[in-house]
Parts: sequence; structure tokens; C-alpha cells
Amino acid sequence: MDYKNYVEIVEDWPKDGVQFKDITPLMNNGKAFKSATDEIVTFAREKEIDLVVGPEARGFIIGCPVSYAMEVGFAPVRKEGKLPRDVIKVDYGLEYGQNVLTIHQDAIQPGQRVLITDDLLATGGTIEATIKLVEQLGGIVVGCAFLVELSYLNGSAKLDGYDVLTLIHY
Ligand code: PRP
Ligand code: HPA
Repeated sequence: MDYKNYVEIVEDWPKDGVQFKDITPLMNNGKAFKSATDEIVTFAREKEIDLVVGPEARGFIIGCPVSYAMEVGFAPVRKEGKLPRDVIKVDYGLEYGQNVLTIHQDAIQPGQRVLITDDLLATGGTIEATIKLVEQLGGIVVGCAFLVELSYLNGSAKLDGYDVLTLIHY
């Protein structure tokens, strides 16, 4: 399937100079969303995952159907102040900002094989921070899956040594 037909490009959003790739049309189309999810599930099966971890907010949308299909749990990575119990945290940079990500301390059992999902790889700050959180809790990152990679922002440089699935490249 040519998933690019389901991505809308929005100029100068959320800031001047940013060319935003909007994946909501892909999620809005049942066949396209199922097909993309199925590809990630196939990858997850190969990796024999125990858990899916996804960063707020669009990592949830990609990760939860995979978790359901694999019959494994899902652990949310959230921005600071959103998770109610003990967390660990890490600072990270964004294509257009700076932030803190957190995960519940008891979200991952040491040795669990973790797939990280997100909608899009840009500078790689979010995935790098999410990997740090998973590994600090003793999880093994066996794969990272994205719908979209913005190759011109070189985020994959932060994923050396990790297995990555990306369905759409710009
Ligand atoms: C976007 C996107 C990825 C991240 C990619 O999320 O959904 O998570 O940025 O950028 P990076 O590779 O440069 O880190 P955002 O932080 O805008 O949060 P949201 O999903 O809550 O809107
Ligand atoms: N699209 C969607 N999310 C993003 C983008 C983008 O172009 N850049 C950083 N996060």
C-alpha cells in the first residue's frame, strides 16, 4: 500500500519553517490503518515481544492496536506530571522544543523484550529518551516501529544498533 497517499503535508505548522507530516488521514482510513498496524504486528512477532511501550500521544495510537493483536501489555511514556505514581524521567530535545518524558517505575520487568512505537521519527530525541527509560528499568529494546521517518532530520543516527521498522520515508 502507498501510505504516502494518506499523509497530508502542512507547511509552517506548528512553527514557521516546519513542514508537518499529518498522519491523521492514515488513521482515519480503516484499511490503511489496519494494513500499517499489521506490518508492525508482523515485525513484533518476529521480535517475540513481551511488551509495547509508546510515547505520548501518538505513540499510544500506533502501539495499542499492536499490543492488542500480540496479547501483550502496553506501557505509556508520558510528559512530566501526567503519571500518578513513582516515575523515572529523562530530558529530551524536539524538532521544535524541549521536554521531559516519564514512565512508571514498575512498568517494565527486567529482561522483558520491548517494542517501542511512535507515529514519526524526526530528530530522534523522543525515541532516544524512550529507549533510555526502557533500558533504565531493565527492559530489552528489541525493536522500534514508526509510520514515518523524516530522513532529512537524521534521527536514525540515534538508533544505531537497534532494529527499526519504518513504513514511510521523506
Ligand atoms: C512528535 C511525534 C514524535 C516526536 C518526534 O510528538 O509524535 O513523538 O514528536 O520528534 P523527534 O524525533 O524530534 O523527537 P510530540 O512531542 O509533538 O508530542 P504529541 O504526540 O504529544 O503531540
Ligand atoms: N509531523 C508529525 N509530528 C512531528 C513532525 C512532523 O512533521 N515533526 C515532529 N513531530
